[in-house]
Amino acid sequence: MTRRSPLFVGNWKMNKNALQTRSFVESFLPLAENLPANVGIAIAPPFTALAAAAAALRSGSRVALAAQTMSEFSEGAYTGEIAASMLAEFNVAYVILGHSERRFYQRESDATIGAKVRAALDAEITPILAVGESLEVREAGNAVAHVLAQIQAATGELTEAQAARIVLAYEPIWAIGTGKNCDRDRAQEIARAARSARRAFADIPILYGGSMKPENAAGYMEMPDIDGGLVGGASLEAHSFARLIAGAIAR
Ligand code: 13P
Repeated sequence: MTRRSPLFVGNWKMNKNALQTRSFVESFLPLAENLPANVGIAIAPPFTALAAAAAALRSGSRVALAAQTMSEFSEGAYTGEIAASMLAEFNVAYVILGHSERRFYQRESDATIGAKVRAALDAEITPILAVGESLEVREAGNAVAHVLAQIQAATGELTEAQAARIVLAYEPIWAIGTGKNCDRDRAQEIARAARSARRAFADIPILYGGSMKPENAAGYMEMPDIDGGLVGGASLEAHSFARLIAGAIAR
């Protein structure tokens, strides 16, 4: 079976200062350089550590940079916000958008997330659109419908060509940071539904996120519609993240 290239993105959330970031990169780069060239690898440090990460990674590095969010606006009076063009200065290749923590704590709406996705694409930064249901929605049997509605709301206005340039990340909220990772067959069911939602999604990477660890990553990779991971806690330590990726792609 031909496969889409795997992609693993470390979402550091609000962890690591510039010094800690440089030290991570120095440990992680040699490990990443031993991984097969077709495997995409990115780290998403906080904004304040992007410069340190960019300097430590150097250009043409095996590891790409991602941001954890960005503004939907290109510039102007938006105190505290960061524009796509500012991320591009640090060669940021990906931006995570719609993470459940931002939907919850920053009250980001589907409409805002959709505007951010379009702004990222306009800036040639690949959006990683995160979607996922709460435990309540899951238990009511509405997980698939909920995720499809989130995807439609954030990508409905994209052209086919634009939609083919995004990455999707399925992150059930109840699995994030809890140690209770989603059963791989359930994750596959959602990934399949997401991929089938639109022809443009046929070849995009679909990632799983939510307590992905070195011990469980390989199981997800055996699923036909799951192409990698959006990894939180297990991406914070260089050896753990490298071990997770190596294990995931071993079979
Ligand atoms: P954990 O891997 O820590 O559960 O976090 C997942 C996540 O939210 C990645 O975006």
